[in-house]
Amino acid sequence: MNNNKPKEIKSNLEYLRKLFIMPDSPDKFIEFGHDLLEMIHEFFQEKGGIHSAITLPELSDIFDQTAVPARPKLIKDVLSEIKDKIVRHSVKVGSPYYIGHMTSAIPYFMILMEMIIAALNQNQVKIESAKASSFVEREIVAWLHRLIFNKGDKYYEKNIQNHRVALGNVTSDGTLANLTALLVAREKAFAPDGDFPGLRMAGMERALRHYGYSKAVILVSKRGHYSITKSANLLGLGEENVISIAVDNDNRMDLMKLRNKIKDLQKKDGKRKIKIVSIIGIAGTTETGSVDNLLEMADIAHEAGAHFHVDACWGGSAMLVDEYRHLFTGIEQADSVTIDAHKLLYCPMSMGAVLFQDERDLRYIRHSSQYVIRRNSVDTGRFTIEGSRPFSCLKPWASLKIIGKEGFGLLFKQAQRSTDDLKMILDNCGNFETLNNPQLFILIYRFIPGAAKNQLEIWKKDKSKDSERKIRKVNNLINGLNIKLHKALRRDDTSFVSRTTMESTPYRPQKIVVLRAVLINPLTNRPILEEIVSTQNRIGMKIWKEFKPVFYRISDCNIQDPDIMGAAPYPV
Ligand SMILES: Cc1ncc(COP(=O)(O)O)c(C=O)c1O
Repeated sequence: MNNNKPKEIKSNLEYLRKLFIMPDSPDKFIEFGHDLLEMIHEFFQEKGGIHSAITLPELSDIFDQTAVPARPKLIKDVLSEIKDKIVRHSVKVGSPYYIGHMTSAIPYFMILMEMIIAALNQNQVKIESAKASSFVEREIVAWLHRLIFNKGDKYYEKNIQNHRVALGNVTSDGTLANLTALLVAREKAFAPDGDFPGLRMAGMERALRHYGYSKAVILVSKRGHYSITKSANLLGLGEENVISIAVDNDNRMDLMKLRNKIKDLQKKDGKRKIKIVSIIGIAGTTETGSVDNLLEMADIAHEAGAHFHVDACWGGSAMLVDEYRHLFTGIEQADSVTIDAHKLLYCPMSMGAVLFQDERDLRYIRHSSQYVIRRNSVDTGRFTIEGSRPFSCLKPWASLKIIGKEGFGLLFKQAQRSTDDLKMILDNCGNFETLNNPQLFILIYRFIPGAAKNQLEIWKKDKSKDSERKIRKVNNLINGLNIKLHKALRRDDTSFVSRTTMESTPYRPQKIVVLRAVLINPLTNRPILEEIVSTQNRIGMKIWKEFKPVFYRISDCNIQDPDIMGAAPYPV
């Protein structure tokens, strides 16, 4: 910790003005830039844990100043404070041992892009504050649109810089991208009609009455991201009107169940009907990376008169590479698609995008105002939910040039190799059970010592009521074991995987606690994965000692284990 007390300086307008005026020479940038880059480099090189050993209460004590600072401090002192208090206690999401979330390593040139974005400070809301950058945004939106809908040269030549329409929006994240898609879906479902001015003017109650509906719903699989329920809330549809459809064994929406649900909904609710605003396909589920059958879903959605939205926030970028395109067959029939740049485009936090098949769809939410985004202006802000927006699209725009489709092909090949390696290492170990066939670099699995795993296999074959009961009990026990293991791994902190609970494993409908690995960091390799699994196995076996007696009791084994009479710490 730096003990030199930072100097407080007297407020001085001349000094403050200098902070805003660009320095006469680049010396100042070079001086601070050098310190800053060194600080970042040190953070990357630092050995030790992924999360830093500091506790959350200790962090509360560091950030406990209740009043806004009154006296200015020197930049160098605040940078030193940032280094001591923030950088060293940040999560090393770029570590090749951090394989638990979609947030991962970024290429270093992104740091330069962020500097450019901050230095130019363009506000994408309107052309008066974002000139060339507005055109960059339209260009990358067209690239992404073409990747999905591939409408041909003429279409893109006509629309790429056509300010009368918008092929899509750049948003701050995937949540806002999904919200935008569903806002458009809602407006289309309750469009102006005769005297009725449309939902955005008249509100939900009048809209339902006008169209003779009792309520409006959204259908998505059980694996849907929580941004969908958030959107339903914000759009006044109500979270309980997001209907979850069960998934099959591959975590893809069960289409038979979807069809049955639609039939149910189309039966009249008393006198009035129910409007299906949108059916949502997922192209890369958050928990398992699975892709729904988009081709069939497109037909079903359009037959039901619903907006077909595809949430491709996770997986969409894989369409850059021919090898993965077959997973997305049917996406070109979607009405809207969302993609996150801060996921498989390896951009730093954060940028989402929403693309509309019909370039006129965003007119449903068009806004204007007198002082910005005037009616006939060319401003992109006319079509967005957000007001001020940063020039974040520079990051994927540059990375698509620097890395190119070919480069992304190699990055995804490496991600696939890591996913296959981890599955193989876990399967060969004997004390783990892998629980999905990963499509897009996400593997779920659990720790289950060989003895318990073999016993479950025997009971599964037996199929008697007694065996079913025992499977359920052992699964509850193993759930407790995996929760405890995950907590112990967090304390160990040499690596990181995440944890979730799923109903859609081979043990359905019983909920199973699983560990989740997201394998997109190109610096992760087989030896690292072996090390991670070996740590999990070592710690897992240690914890298993407490659980073993209960397991043997459930199994009615006559093993003379001195632990058997020990306390059973977990409910079974
Ligand atoms: C499938 C899916 N959709 C939407 C989102 C939301 O994205 P964001 O966190 O950028 O808002 C996520 C995030 O993980 C996701 O996995």
